[in-house]
Amino acid sequence: MNMDRKKRIEFGDFQTPDALAVQVCEYLKAQGLRPDVVVEPTCGVGAFVLAAAQVFSGAREVLGLEINAAYLDTLRGKLQASPTLTHVRLEQADFFSADWSARTRGLTGRLLVVGNFPWVTNAALGAIGGENLPEKSNFLGLSGFDAISGKANFDISESMLLEVLRWLAPRGGDVAMLVKTTVARKVLAHAQRLRQPVADARMVEIDAKKHFGASVDACLLVIRLDPTASTSYDYTVFASLEDRQGRKVGHRQGLIVSDLDAFESCSYLVGQSPQKWRSGIKHDASAIMEFTRGAEGFVNGLGESVQLEDACLYPLMKGSDIGSDKVWRNKFVLVTQRAVGADTSPIRALAPRTWAYLEAHAGQLDARASTIYAKNPRFSIFGVGDYAFRPWRIAICGLYKALRFRIVAPIEGRPVMFDDTVYYLSFDTQVQALQTLADLESEAARGLLSSLIFWDEKRPIKTSILNVLDWSKLHADMQRQAALI
Ligand SMILES: C[S@@+](CC[C@H](N)C(=O)[O-])C[C@H]1O[C@@H](n2cnc3c(N)ncnc32)[C@H](O)[C@@H]1O
Repeated sequence: MNMDRKKRIEFGDFQTPDALAVQVCEYLKAQGLRPDVVVEPTCGVGAFVLAAAQVFSGAREVLGLEINAAYLDTLRGKLQASPTLTHVRLEQADFFSADWSARTRGLTGRLLVVGNFPWVTNAALGAIGGENLPEKSNFLGLSGFDAISGKANFDISESMLLEVLRWLAPRGGDVAMLVKTTVARKVLAHAQRLRQPVADARMVEIDAKKHFGASVDACLLVIRLDPTASTSYDYTVFASLEDRQGRKVGHRQGLIVSDLDAFESCSYLVGQSPQKWRSGIKHDASAIMEFTRGAEGFVNGLGESVQLEDACLYPLMKGSDIGSDKVWRNKFVLVTQRAVGADTSPIRALAPRTWAYLEAHAGQLDARASTIYAKNPRFSIFGVGDYAFRPWRIAICGLYKALRFRIVAPIEGRPVMFDDTVYYLSFDTQVQALQTLADLESEAARGLLSSLIFWDEKRPIKTSILNVLDWSKLHADMQRQAALI
């Protein structure tokens, strides 16, 4: 890898465009921020230093720190062209070795820490042999295995933001940082866990593709710490710097709620799902365990034509089929067990050709990487149990950004199996499935689920969310209402 690129990765170097830095500072000013001192701890070529110096005209001092001396030289050049900005002070410093507590103790008045920390994870640093890391990797105060092994993956910006919160907490002040949305959420969760005096917090979505050419969800995270004010860990998410309405996010009943207003009216449905949502089959060997049926018979993912008994073959629909409402595409999957851990050797007598096929491909099946396979009978799969063999299903794909449930009928007299990106409920009869679908599609049920889903996540729909919807309470509610009439 060329040295410049390596350095750019190691230092998570995405300089903020000047116009965005000005927009952010104007936004903060419109929110009422009037700092006496502004600190930009990793200021780069200084978009935020210059913007803050211009926008916060009442500030006594704007302090910019940066590890890269060449960047500071560039910034000094820019400052020479703006002779009015005399209250800017620059220093070359490594964020991780600077004594921030001592430094901030000397700063009086309202303090704003603003900027854009490096965009890199410790794992990416490890891959390039970079060392731009906090000294103690257990900055999260983790307990257990992750702390001992130092294996937890984190963003460098996450560790820097937590450090800023640590030194701001006793004296109070504002932080406004451009960060990945996932980092912002984690930092707010840590702030709550560490009981930081958060008086107000917001996340304003930023178009990272437009401003940084980066395909990642990013935001401006703004936190006001004030040890003298009442603490609240709810925060508001705004769709843009222009959005004035926002939606409130916070924790309720042990859940992280993505829309508190919507949640309040449907929260009576929080409980335990009357039937546990399950995920589809996991086998980690699609080329061998999955088949397409064509005019010539069954063909596996290696392109081999095979002849197998029906005994272990079930129709298969993938997450993409469920998520995009496709019809069944003549796909099948080998189901080698009816329960996790069950003995697979009866297949030898029950379906000798299937057993011979499995043995012929044992090399690949035995080499499946996850240790769960090594600890279980040969040719094991996961995601099976009684529930997997009931004929009717309601399914949803966890990867799709839509709350769309789908009834899946048995095909050729057999229940349809799914891959492990699909979550489903199963039923003995079509009537039961249709009744439950009506419940899931009721306004209140959709309202509750929507209020718990974070659509910007990779897998926004999770069993942990689906399983808290107790749709039986819908009927209790209807019965109560009927009794009142
Ligand atoms: C994402 S860039 C943003 C720069 C600037 N904050 C801005 O908004 O344009 C991150 C900056 O952090 C600097 N940096 C990386 N690691 C640092 C460290 N340990 N101490 C100080 N600065 C660091 C990089 O050199 C780079 O200029």
